[in-house]
Amino acid sequence: MFNTQEFLQSEIARNLLVGLDAPDDAAIYRVSPDRAIIQTVDLFPPVVDDAYSFGAIAAANAMSDVYAMGGDVLFGLNLVAWREDLPLELLSEILRGGAEKMREGGGVIAGGHTITDQEPKYGIAVTGMVNPQHTLTKGGAQVGDVLFLTKPLGTGILTTAGKQEIAAEQDLQDAIAWMMRLNRDAALAARAVGLQAATDITGFSLLGHSHEMASAAGAQFQFELNALPILDGAFELAKQGSIPGGTARNRDYLHDKVLLPENLSDEWDALLFDPQTSGGLLLAAPRTKRDALIREFTARDVAYWEIGNVVQGAGVRVT
Ligand code: CO
Ligand code: CO
Repeated sequence: MFNTQEFLQSEIARNLLVGLDAPDDAAIYRVSPDRAIIQTVDLFPPVVDDAYSFGAIAAANAMSDVYAMGGDVLFGLNLVAWREDLPLELLSEILRGGAEKMREGGGVIAGGHTITDQEPKYGIAVTGMVNPQHTLTKGGAQVGDVLFLTKPLGTGILTTAGKQEIAAEQDLQDAIAWMMRLNRDAALAARAVGLQAATDITGFSLLGHSHEMASAAGAQFQFELNALPILDGAFELAKQGSIPGGTARNRDYLHDKVLLPENLSDEWDALLFDPQTSGGLLLAAPRTKRDALIREFTARDVAYWEIGNVVQGAGVRVT
């Protein structure tokens, strides 16, 4: 007898192109030969004081996983945890920041859900669309590829220093502007030249997310320390001890999977393992596409740094 339930399950398995089998930035589900849905969700407690900026950063961060898969954002559902004694005007500002960032990305907020919680949190469950033949995955890098990063490192250090009230105002505002910046144009540039490999740098740090890409590709990612972009103030603030809690967790997990230069300073170590909020895209480009990619970045006003290469081997090496 025909089993409807079994048929549906096998249909879902067949069309779920990216799921838990090969974890990536977002799940991808094919609905037709040239169309697939992208689904991702992210939320976290406030990283900055200003409510509007926090909303916009949380939205840019949530949308980033759609861009890291090479897709377009369609719509999102707000996820809110709110403490009852906090002014509702603050929540309105957070939601306004999120909604305006969503609109900037070409999408809309279509609903949401709120719960009561001691610690406020905000994020978005984002739905996007991509042609399944043109996805950017963590596993697409090849030996010989050039590695590009599209935002500077150090947002964990800067936001921690912001909470300690020791960051220079201009440095903090710069960090906020970077975190609010969408990865959309970087993804469009990647799509324009037909790249296959990307991820976005978030809480797992540059080393953690590169390690995921290197493992998925069966290759080694090599970075040149001096080529890595760093936010203004991050080095000094790391020296003063503005290190987020996630840094040690990242280091514990990764220390035997990465090769770092001997005598690496504590500040550089803190930056390499620094959990990023709404960080840039890490893109692997075949050498033959390098110049075309740079032209696309320039035409779209995307910041970029060429930070290393994909070589034979395993793990991540910083020289
Ligand atoms: Co991601
Ligand atoms: Co995510």
